[in-house]
Amino acid sequence: MSQKYMLASCIALISVFQFAVAESPYRYFDWHVTYGHVYPLGVQQRGILINKQFPGPDIISVTNDNLVINVYNHLDEPFLISWDGIQQRKNSFEDGVYGTTCPIPPGRNITYKLQVKDQIGSYFYFPSTAFHKATGGFGGIRVLSRPLIPVPFPPPADDFTLLIGDWYKSDHQKLKATLDHGKRLHFPDGVHINGRRANDAVFTVQKGKTYRFRISNVGLQNTLNIRFQNHKMMLVEVEGTHTMQQLYSSLDVHVGQSYSVLVKADQDVQDYYIAVSTRFNDVIHTTTGIFHYQGSSRPVSGPPPGGPTTEIGWSLEQARTIRTNLTASGPRPNPQGSYHYGEIPLTRTIRLASSAGQVNGKQRYAVNSVSFVPADTPLKLADYFNIQGVFSVNSIPDHPTGKNMYLDTGVLGADYRTFIEIVFENKERIVQSWHIDGYNFFVVGMDGGKWSPEKRQQYNLHDAISRCTVQVYPRSWTAVYLSLDNVGMWNIRTQFWARQYLGEQLYLRVYTPSRSPRDEYPIPDNTLLCGRALK
Ligand SMILES: *[C@@H]1O[C@H](CO)[C@@H](O)[C@H](O)[C@H]1NC(C)=O
Ligand SMILES: *[C@@H]1O[C@H](CO)[C@@H](O)[C@H](O)[C@H]1NC(C)=O
Repeated sequence: MSQKYMLASCIALISVFQFAVAESPYRYFDWHVTYGHVYPLGVQQRGILINKQFPGPDIISVTNDNLVINVYNHLDEPFLISWDGIQQRKNSFEDGVYGTTCPIPPGRNITYKLQVKDQIGSYFYFPSTAFHKATGGFGGIRVLSRPLIPVPFPPPADDFTLLIGDWYKSDHQKLKATLDHGKRLHFPDGVHINGRRANDAVFTVQKGKTYRFRISNVGLQNTLNIRFQNHKMMLVEVEGTHTMQQLYSSLDVHVGQSYSVLVKADQDVQDYYIAVSTRFNDVIHTTTGIFHYQGSSRPVSGPPPGGPTTEIGWSLEQARTIRTNLTASGPRPNPQGSYHYGEIPLTRTIRLASSAGQVNGKQRYAVNSVSFVPADTPLKLADYFNIQGVFSVNSIPDHPTGKNMYLDTGVLGADYRTFIEIVFENKERIVQSWHIDGYNFFVVGMDGGKWSPEKRQQYNLHDAISRCTVQVYPRSWTAVYLSLDNVGMWNIRTQFWARQYLGEQLYLRVYTPSRSPRDEYPIPDNTLLCGRALK
């Protein structure tokens, strides 16, 4: 072995060692949650602000950072915030959904301690209980690559958060009361960009430069299509995975999903529309923001660019073009393609089918016939303190049974360190959007019709995208692979918020008998207790 080679491998060893032992930086945030006036559709409404901002402040972090977020609840009702896409490795206590974490009582504060361990990418946070999501309290989360890890595109001139969502003019308490009475909500009243009314969200760019936009659909139910007038979007990242870079003139962003695109300001100096509109419905709501070239004296005029008019087929084709760049690095220096998910034997297939119906004369939604009802105590705390009678493992079957819908606190048991397939089945006429907390998964297949084991022959076992929220088209299925390497109690839910609220969710309990902190961290010492965990 030449000396030069030995030296190189020595340096490589030292740097690996440093990654392993150096304590990652801490970032501290103080957040005050209040009501305030907001105008997403041009009329004044009550909204939830964080540090007087709507949307809330962006969280900007670097892979492996520790985030210490002290949240003060100044509302008159309990409040709970969750971190969509942040994996909370070995630490489901901080996940911020009611199955894991107690809401913050009015007038109190609680400090969340998260680590963005082994992650990069674009995500968002949002309030997870009491239908607060309809009224704000959301914001962007960025996890940047560590300085020495290559990013597969040059640094952009600026990096913008672009939160889009459908919106109601009604107060969230009224929407919640409608659902509590067992009624359905009407179609949302409009769409916002960064919580602003039309043309109020302005992004200033310089001719010749390239900009990153981190687009998240923080809305309640609708798929939104986004396009930049006269410009193309180069897709570069989806929920923590660097994609094969491709140009798109418009992009379907299903509810709860996040995409990073690069947009090059390569047109004449003037203003252009950024148009966002609802999809797959007779009613189409559109709103616009402004892509403003510095020095432009020509404001936007005329109609904004129209979205795709074709329906499901176009969207499905687009979804299939979104693939992982196998040679690009993710959070680690090695290429994303070095994890060969397609070669790992499956140990289990879970099939989850959504449905809509009535229970006791009230509108409900279910997974495998079980319409989720929250327990009186967060499930993770009940599990930790061994409180009997809060939930039982396997209170939801792992495949559709065809039974009538019934209410239960659905918890599905699964073994740590297994490699499983989940098939989301959709017999309904709407586009579904599913999210799994604690994990990213490989989207190996999606297609129309009914899933059967033979469909595995058409799976993408090579460069499927790894993400945390995936759509399921009407009367279609979507199959994902995931490695259950994160012990905890994890929410699997629809991102269609009224359906989530009325039961279309469950918890996956990833279990190991070991009590070692190598597998799961002990309960944080400041954990808020509630329900039967208080006694
Ligand atoms: C509430 O905030 C104070 C600082 O104002 C902090 O010392 C305390 O730890 C926080 N409480 C909890 C439960 O995190
Ligand atoms: C994939 O990533 C590599 C970096 O490893 C980059 O050079 C290449 O342009 C990327 N290809 C595509 C199609 O995104």
